[in-house]
Amino acid sequence: MKHMILNTESYFGNGCVSKIGDEAIERHFNRAMIVTDKMLLKFGTLAPIFDSLQKAHVEYVIFDEVQPNPTINVVQNGVNAFHQSDADFLIAVGGGSSIDTAKGISIVVANPKHSDVRSLEFVKQTDHRGVTLFAIPTTAGTASEVTIDYVITDEEKGRKFLCADDNCISRVAFIDAEMMAGMPQKLAAATGMDALTHAIEAYCSKRAWDFTDILAIKAVECIAQNLKHSCQLPKARENMALGQYLAGMAFSNCGLGANHALAHPLSAVHHVPHGLANAILLPKIMEFNAPFVGEKMRAIAKAMGIHGTANMNQEQYIKAAVNAVEALKKSIGITQNLTELGVTEATLPLLVKQAMEDATMVDNPRPMHSGNVESIYRSLM
Ligand SMILES: NC(=O)c1ccc[n+]([C@@H]2O[C@H](COP(=O)([O-])OP(=O)(O)OC[C@H]3O[C@@H](n4cnc5c(N)ncnc54)[C@H](O)[C@@H]3O)[C@@H](O)[C@H]2O)c1
Ligand SMILES: [Fe+2]
Repeated sequence: MKHMILNTESYFGNGCVSKIGDEAIERHFNRAMIVTDKMLLKFGTLAPIFDSLQKAHVEYVIFDEVQPNPTINVVQNGVNAFHQSDADFLIAVGGGSSIDTAKGISIVVANPKHSDVRSLEFVKQTDHRGVTLFAIPTTAGTASEVTIDYVITDEEKGRKFLCADDNCISRVAFIDAEMMAGMPQKLAAATGMDALTHAIEAYCSKRAWDFTDILAIKAVECIAQNLKHSCQLPKARENMALGQYLAGMAFSNCGLGANHALAHPLSAVHHVPHGLANAILLPKIMEFNAPFVGEKMRAIAKAMGIHGTANMNQEQYIKAAVNAVEALKKSIGITQNLTELGVTEATLPLLVKQAMEDATMVDNPRPMHSGNVESIYRSLM
């Protein structure tokens, strides 16, 4: 049996966040708690959202404690803020960190027995649907607005954990590229490579099937064509917004793989931004998995814009796909190795342990042992 779950309703296109007030009214909501971060407030990114809510006479309070790689503590503070706010729904505005925090708040408010947050890691589905969530991404990367996933950092244990729960999915998403226009090049590069990693991992996942394949390979093509110019060209930015959403629809329904399993510890232990960690690992993980995904590497090479893939032998198309990803990375300024990001011989055993325990590892097409994980990290130091 196959199963697909997507968020209920999504708007696309420049300026579509102006619909948020109407959507709240149509759904009979009175007061929102907006989950975001201080930087976005400072940049004025939320102005069109405030404007739309005010026009529709929908009240709002703001919870702005989100930080990159959100922690258990931030989710718990958000739950307390929600209880004090008298709000009846949530609006997440930001990158994956803001949307994931809002998902955690939404789930804990509806399922108070998980107020420790940590216990949500292995729950396949909580008892109750979360508080209604509207999601507005401001990065073209995580696609958290359409996924059943959220990632929280356990500071006490020094690790990140993934929760996958149908009950956290957003009700309305607004994929508005204008909300992403403020991204500096470095952020657009890292988050865009996160989206590419989602697309490639979903396409190669053990649980991939025809439906997710169509979404994932289109996402690879869209991201490969548009990432490089997404900070300069409005059309490329719009296409990136769509590409990352397509990738999200795919991976949310068929899983990720070793790339994310090895990336999460780099963020938890060394605070490497999520997209950057994925980008550094991606060519090596593709090489490792290639013998187990067959013709799919040919399709990836073609979607990455390589010509003549139909006449290539296996060795050639694998090389072409890996080189195309490496070239894209370089063209957007991602050239760091893991040593430059703080990885040392001393932290390596912890990284390997956490990667092997990460929930995303199970969908990797090729079994990966701790020796493989260690040599992949080492090859990037
Ligand atoms: N839920 C999922 O399915 C999923 C998937 C992948 C990753 N994640 C998680 O999402 C998090 C990463 O999210 P992210 O990569 O979107 O970054 P982020 O949300 O952590 O934001 C990074 C920084 O970018 C800033 N920023 C965001 N939008 C901006 C804009 N338009 N202009 C200027 N600055 C802006 C933020 O203020 C923040 O300082 C990680 O915790 C990761 O594990 C979740
Ligand atoms: Fe990711």
